[in-house]
Amino acid sequence: MRPAIQQPQDVTGLELVRRKLAQTERIRPVSAVLTRTLRVLEDPRSSASDLAKVISEDEVVTGKLLSVVNSAFYGVSRRVTVVSQAVALLGYQTVRAIVIGATAFRMGESRDPEVRACREEIWQHSMDCAAWSKSVATKLGYRFAEEAFVAGLLHDIGKLVLLTVLPEQYVPVLHQEVNTPDETMEFERQALQTDHLAAGGLIAERWSLPMRLRTCITQHHGWPIELPDAQSDKLLGALIAVVRCGNAASRLYPLHHDGAQTTPAVALRTHEMEQEILTAFAEEAGRLVKSLDANHDGVTGARRPHVV
Ligand SMILES: [Fe+2]
Ligand SMILES: [Fe+2]
Repeated sequence: MRPAIQQPQDVTGLELVRRKLAQTERIRPVSAVLTRTLRVLEDPRSSASDLAKVISEDEVVTGKLLSVVNSAFYGVSRRVTVVSQAVALLGYQTVRAIVIGATAFRMGESRDPEVRACREEIWQHSMDCAAWSKSVATKLGYRFAEEAFVAGLLHDIGKLVLLTVLPEQYVPVLHQEVNTPDETMEFERQALQTDHLAAGGLIAERWSLPMRLRTCITQHHGWPIELPDAQSDKLLGALIAVVRCGNAASRLYPLHHDGAQTTPAVALRTHEMEQEILTAFAEEAGRLVKSLDANHDGVTGARRPHVV
């Protein structure tokens, strides 16, 4: 039996999430931390040492930042232990992208072991998707690879919202066996009357995330890519395609497994069988990226891959 949501009459799933989120934010305001960090990041006069200072004050963000920096993906030869070292090694833009993602993942910290396990799984999938999205972006010549990284890191932030505000209902949903992400959303809608795309849209608005990131959060599922404004914003269409490709790749080739880590390049070499599916995504993403220069309409007629 799927869990039924207890809610006052006439309150839709998303409205309930909105109300609970407002309560949670009053107690543990992640948005305040994020706003403070973004202010430093956006200030053109701020330096790498200002960034290092603001991050170092927050243990959780520092821990997550260092875990990303020391992951196999970045391949840093010696272990990075302080933020200033991370900034010096990876550069401001990369650290900026990681910090936004790591700060967002402060949401919904919990002592419940089941919730903690789910959060960890979401974080690892998000890191994998970020690494894949950046790798796909670089391969296809998409100029804003760090943007693709942070979009990948945040694409499923709606899952974290649902886990934070409705843990009892959402943990069983996350434990359901599914074949495709579309099926996950089906279970979400049945149990919560909303899904992680809509919940992600709520938090993105609340945190005033840039519009392009918001759109990736609310539109990273479904195929072919149909954006109402894709004609006028091809850059956005390309970014979404890159993140969808990164998401599919991270499902097929997780980079974190049983405590071990790998990189997209190694994962591709060891899973040639499924290359075809990834190629379908890469083709569409590549087509959209190319259309940026060729002034091509580029959002219709894609063949549907098996996994989204
Ligand atoms: Fe998703
Ligand atoms: Fe995902």
